[in-house]
Amino acid sequence: MDVSRGERRSFLNYMLGTGALATLGAIFYPMFRFMIPPRVVESAASSVVAARVSEIRPNEGRIFKFGSRPGLLIQTAPGEYRAFNATCTHLDCTVQYLAEERLIWCACHNGRYDLTGKNISGPPPRPLEEFTVNVRGDEVVVSRG
Ligand code: FES
Repeated sequence: MDVSRGERRSFLNYMLGTGALATLGAIFYPMFRFMIPPRVVESAASSVVAARVSEIRPNEGRIFKFGSRPGLLIQTAPGEYRAFNATCTHLDCTVQYLAEERLIWCACHNGRYDLTGKNISGPPPRPLEEFTVNVRGDEVVVSRG
């Protein structure tokens, strides 16, 4: 079988072209993926069991997971349940319950919220998002909206 010089040359050009294309893809594809990060899928769950009744006492707070975000469940000193998005409205630190002061506190910049979630001192610009709390049997269920 006799392969002409022109056919060999076009075959070589084809191989070099596809190799160069693969090399460019290997270089630019990771850069492209880095610049456009994947979407973070928020949990569609609209309610979650934040705790068992036996796990939280009056004047106590606990962090729970609500989808991909932290939530803060509080049982006030008189025994009422309250729940909030635990992400501080200043720079997204996680807030916590301060039992001795009976308020919600952000350790990052000393931000403070009252037990309705209202920002009362420090840099937080807005109140915390409040969730609905229902007790069903032994479960403390927190819901959005
Ligand atoms: S992040 Fe909470 S006060 Fe700054």
